[in-house]
Amino acid sequence: MEHKWKTIIEPFKIKSVEPLGFTTREERLKLLEQAHYNLFNIRAEKVLIDLLTDSGTGAMSAAQWGGIMTGDESYAGARSYYNFENEIKDLTGYREVIPVHQGRAAERILFSVIGGQGKYMVSNSHFDTTRANVEASGAAAIDFPASGALDFDKPGPFKGNMNTTALEKFISKTGAKNIPLCIMTVTNNSLGGQPVSMENLKSTQNICRKYGIPMFLDCARFAENAYFIKLREKGYSRTPVREIAQEMFELADGAMMSAKKDAFANMGGFLAMNNTEWSGKARQMLILTEGFNTYGGLAGRDLEAIAIGLREVLDENYLQYRIRSSAYLGEGLTRRGVPIVTPPGGHGIYVNAKKFLPHINPRNFPAQTLATALYLEGGIRGVEIGTLMFGRRDAKGNFLPASMELLRLAVPRRVYTQSHIDYVIEVFGCIAKNKKSLKGLEIVEAPKVLAHFSAKLRPVK
Ligand code: F0G
Repeated sequence: MEHKWKTIIEPFKIKSVEPLGFTTREERLKLLEQAHYNLFNIRAEKVLIDLLTDSGTGAMSAAQWGGIMTGDESYAGARSYYNFENEIKDLTGYREVIPVHQGRAAERILFSVIGGQGKYMVSNSHFDTTRANVEASGAAAIDFPASGALDFDKPGPFKGNMNTTALEKFISKTGAKNIPLCIMTVTNNSLGGQPVSMENLKSTQNICRKYGIPMFLDCARFAENAYFIKLREKGYSRTPVREIAQEMFELADGAMMSAKKDAFANMGGFLAMNNTEWSGKARQMLILTEGFNTYGGLAGRDLEAIAIGLREVLDENYLQYRIRSSAYLGEGLTRRGVPIVTPPGGHGIYVNAKKFLPHINPRNFPAQTLATALYLEGGIRGVEIGTLMFGRRDAKGNFLPASMELLRLAVPRRVYTQSHIDYVIEVFGCIAKNKKSLKGLEIVEAPKVLAHFSAKLRPVK
């Protein structure tokens, strides 16, 4: 009989490596001061373990690098485009496939076609760039997260779900006429990388169908979501993940994807649908600002790498390792008394800084304080999702505390090994022991929009 080994190993061997950026604590203190305590201003080569994002930071496979060399760079009708189109059609079933340079380009094109003043887009949670592009079109972006999604301590299998009751109430109050689209973000990045169940996709689709509203997936992390369905939802434990993903796409009318996540590409994305009126208008926008229909802002080699990546990501040995490694980080932090959003998300761990550092006034940026401490002590970079990122201000320009203070540790795909993660856990253990010494940060200077990218801060005295 075949033995069931407990150790889940990285399902790859390493052919090409690059060195990590080792620095001393003394150097990092200087670098932090020079960067005004804003980690976006730190040079990546001065970061040891970079958990800023899982977007575009994954390791490509040997097959993808092979595709890079064979990519067809013809302006029109390149072979690589057809490989890309066929792969997406086969996976999603949508007939109209539009390549774009990244997820937000798909958003800008789509909402410039269907958005505008007086319109509402509804979602389980819009990602920041999705919301910004909806709003830039003049429309409003409304979220209906599942009840309990904001209770970070309480685990649940599908905390990324749509609150369908609230959705239907809103539609019947507002009228479907001004709601051109419902967007299901899988997995739900803004709320901890939590998955959406098939049942929830079905009931959301039922409501949308009843009111004649199309439903699209924001499918940046569709494979992680499909694997969670296999693990957690009744009736799917024996279904191949590819079939689960296909069922998810079948429930929707279209999708937009940042291929920088679950396609293992450093750049790229797509917009796909069956509605030829929308796709026709979208292609006009595409030609205006991205490029011709068969490359849309990408090189032929990028299209090739995405086509290969979309197939590789559905390998269940990979997905088992992927979901397990995020959970491993989460369990290690929990053991060291670091509160996280539970259960662990697919693409990383969200540390609840408000709960971890209750002695820091929310006006002094607890999550950013933790982010800078993590860099200072261990050279590790995460990203604040809190007051600095949400950035609402009063009339005098002072930051108003956000409802959540999270530090996201996003895990790049196939990049770090278990010992890198053990190191992150060890550094956190040390910070947890000395957390009382953290005093918070204050603003020196901050621009009005997207302040988190360029704000200058300093430690409070
Ligand atoms: N949708 C989701 C759910 C995302 O997570 C992102 C990007 C986008 C759309 C936009 O895609 O970056 O290719 O333009 N998320 C990255 C992150 C930036 O760090 O979570 P993009």
